[in-house]
Amino acid sequence: MLAVVPTILGWMATVAVVNAATDPGVRPGTAAGNPIPGLSADQAALFQIGQDAFNEVEMVDDGLGPRFNLDPQVAAATAFGARNVVPAFISANGPIREARFKFRPNGARDGGVHSLFVISGRLDNSGSAGNCDALQEEFNAHFARGNVSLRIPTPVFGGGLMESIPDNVLATNLGRNAAQKAQLGIAGHLNANGNDGRATRFGWKAQNVSLLLFAGEAYNVEMGLTSELFPTERDPNPKCQTDTVPNNITGRTGIMDPNVCDSTRGSGVDHPRTAAFQ
Ligand code: HEM
Repeated sequence: MLAVVPTILGWMATVAVVNAATDPGVRPGTAAGNPIPGLSADQAALFQIGQDAFNEVEMVDDGLGPRFNLDPQVAAATAFGARNVVPAFISANGPIREARFKFRPNGARDGGVHSLFVISGRLDNSGSAGNCDALQEEFNAHFARGNVSLRIPTPVFGGGLMESIPDNVLATNLGRNAAQKAQLGIAGHLNANGNDGRATRFGWKAQNVSLLLFAGEAYNVEMGLTSELFPTERDPNPKCQTDTVPNNITGRTGIMDPNVCDSTRGSGVDHPRTAAFQ
């Protein structure tokens, strides 16, 4: 018996080495994120509009905030006089991180995303949030006492392909190779939307049903930009509204402008929808 144990352990180690996943790391070139091949001229135009919106740095007069997570530069959080402290878990070259609080002050479960930064005091070249009195939450203190869960963004490349898989195909795939999966300890279930039962598939917990929903939510939660999908600000503080609410709404600047004729499309959803894995 004693001799058998080391043999089994040795065999398990060999299997682990053979099956070990390897991370190829950052690959050379800039292939990922380009449009998938074969788009029509109209689809290519939508990709471009989506990419431009995705890359746009939002300013106060766009309706940024009152609270937001990040734009491309960490420095922007404190630039223009905004009253923010960059939390210790965010760094210039580190991953973008989103903070969820585990508990509320009264001890009840929280779990929601808490936007890292405020626009209070910010005077950028588009407008002023000088009267905004929203206070940034004390992220370093919450983090130090273990009340913060961090999530990094999921890649959006190939999102359109993920979106186009019908629910019944996902269910069929889940049921395939059942014996092998059981042997390897692989199990799972599809998450479903509570209202209509469709399979949810986007986000770390597969919590959202579509890219459009995620893009609208990203604009509301990450940037504080409201749209027809998410028409109300998460922080309704009247001193901090620098634009009409919803910030983007169909027909706001004319119904023929493709950037705004559909306010959620203007939010960049066509970028993840048409971007290729590589
Ligand atoms: C600075 C702004 C942004 C930050 C900090 C951010 C952060 C994140 C994070 C943390 C997740 C994972 C969410 C979770 O599962 O809990 C995520 C997913 C996602 N984000 Fe963003 N995001 C930003 C902007 C955007 C924009 C502008 C779009 C829209 C075009 C977008 C589209 C998505 C989509 C579609 C997913 C889900 C992808 C998937 O799971 O397949 N995000 N993002």
